[in-house]
This record gives sequence, structure tokens and C-alpha cells, in this order.
Amino acid sequence: MDEMETMTIKALAFDAYGTIFDVHSVIALCEEFFPGRGAALSQLWRTKQLEYTWLRSLMGKYEDFWKVTEDGLRFACASLSVDLTANKSKRLMDAYLHLTPYPDVASAVKRLNHLPLAILSNGAPRMLHDVVANAGLSDDFQHLLSVDSVKIFKPHANVYQLAPDNFGVDASEIGFVSSNGWDIAGAAHFGFTTFWINRGKQPVEALGSEPYHVISTLDDVADALEKMS
Ligand code: LAC
Repeated sequence: MDEMETMTIKALAFDAYGTIFDVHSVIALCEEFFPGRGAALSQLWRTKQLEYTWLRSLMGKYEDFWKVTEDGLRFACASLSVDLTANKSKRLMDAYLHLTPYPDVASAVKRLNHLPLAILSNGAPRMLHDVVANAGLSDDFQHLLSVDSVKIFKPHANVYQLAPDNFGVDASEIGFVSSNGWDIAGAAHFGFTTFWINRGKQPVEALGSEPYHVISTLDDVADALEKMS
């Protein structure tokens, strides 16, 4: 897209899981509990977690992301025929509160903190609070916006509306950053200026909404904003 057409960005909202935090940092514990199955379990757990958000949204049966994540874990373990004891479930869920931030997060938020920053996520409020605090990022984000206040998951427009409502600026003036291609499609359709950090080296989702910027690391957000100013 022509840079001359670019709106001024007045605030930034970041997806949490997969964008700021590496959901697959649970692989080590999965591997300790289920040797040889760690990577497969982590992958299937994430896949089912997301499927359940979409299915519950379509069914009108919202439960918070903690419950959905637990349910995804239970299904994934059953599917791989591994024995998820109550203690293993508790420890794997606790690992979700201690996910590792990606290495580019710390430098990027320092370069971007002249703007108001938020996390806008499926995560339940306590999950977001804890994972951000445990990563030492509490001072970097002005808002931790959870879908729980609207009781439906991404990519529903009511979720994205939380950002303009809380920042007090138009959607097009908000830069939305996510590694999840489907989240970027929803956010672009909603009207955000989108930054797709293509961590997974994936093709653009065929959902009729192109990302505004395609970037490789979070530092590229700051570079793109500097070019736009
Ligand atoms: C989130 C999921 C989509 O943080 O990763 O909202």
C-alpha cells in the first residue's frame, strides 16, 4: 500500500499469544511429562485451543480462555493417548502463566513506548495479568484488554472495538500487531492499520483482508512507523 495513504498511528494494540509470548515455550514441560510427544502435544494443544474459541463463539457458548485452554489440553492429550493426571494438567496450565516472551519484545516496546500500548487478547484477565507480570512487562502496556468483557472471541468485531473504546482514537489510527494471520484478517476487516509479524513464515490467509504491513520482527513496527512519520 502507498505510504502516502497511511494514517497517523496514535496507539498500538498487540495480540498476546504467539505475538508477544511464545505458546510453544511449554514444549519442554510437555516433553518432560510425555517424552517424545512434547512438540506434537504443544502443537495440537494450541490448535484445539483456537478451534474451541471459534466454535464456542459460533455456538454462543462462551467460556473464558482459561477453561478453553484446559479443554484443549485435555482433548490434545486424549488424542495423543497420553495420560493427563490432575497434577500434570495443573502444572501445564501454570506454564501458560509463565510463557516466554519472544526475544524481540523488550527492545521493540522500548522503541514504541512513546505511543500508548495495549494487549488485546483472547486471554482471560487473570491470565493476561499474570503472564505479563511474570515476563516483567507490566509497566510497558497501559491496557490489558481481554475478550472476557464482551464474552466472545476474536475475530468478532466486538473484541476489536475494545481498542478504540479504551484508547479513545479511531480504529484506523490504531496499529494492530499480531502473528496470527486469521487475527490480522479480522483486524484489517475491522479497520485497524495492521502489522502482521509473520513468525510462522505462512502465506496470507485467504479471507479477503490483506495485512497492511508484513514484518519479520517486532522491531520492524518501529521502523515502519518511523518511515510513516
Ligand atoms: C490471543 C490469541 C489469538 O492472544 O493468540 O488473542
